[in-house]
Amino acid sequence: MKVIIGSDHAGFSLKQQVNSLLEEMGHTVEDVGCHGEDSVDYPVYGKAVAKGVASGQFPKGILICGSGLGMSMVANRFTGVRAALCNDLFSAILSRRHNDANLLVLGARLIGIDLAGEIVKAWFQTEFDGGRHLRRVAQLDEA
Ligand code: RB5
Repeated sequence: MKVIIGSDHAGFSLKQQVNSLLEEMGHTVEDVGCHGEDSVDYPVYGKAVAKGVASGQFPKGILICGSGLGMSMVANRFTGVRAALCNDLFSAILSRRHNDANLLVLGARLIGIDLAGEIVKAWFQTEFDGGRHLRRVAQLDEA
């Protein structure tokens, strides 16, 4: 799968590790930055990834900042984006099963690479349940 990923400086190091994991998993990774640990503004990268998912060019995306909160706020402003901040495994699984999340957000200052790796693997492996959740997810983009 083509996966678009971005982070700010706080998420940069974890993003490098997540990129390696994604490639090991067989995904094609488009990294929109940032590209180092110098301070940057998370909305710049959040918007770039959210646009990639909202346009349909990328079926799934990942965003990483310090807490995951700022990236979630940015991404969920884009119609068609269902960004889920998942700093635990159960949220990651439920965000796919019930919400059909298409953008995973991680907080690099809250979790380490071991847990992040488990979350990423589970998030990509878990399918949407559909059924009653389909109606609810469709309502997200209604006025
Ligand atoms: C950067 O210091 C931090 O504010 C940012 O990574 C993020 O946590 C914002 O929500």
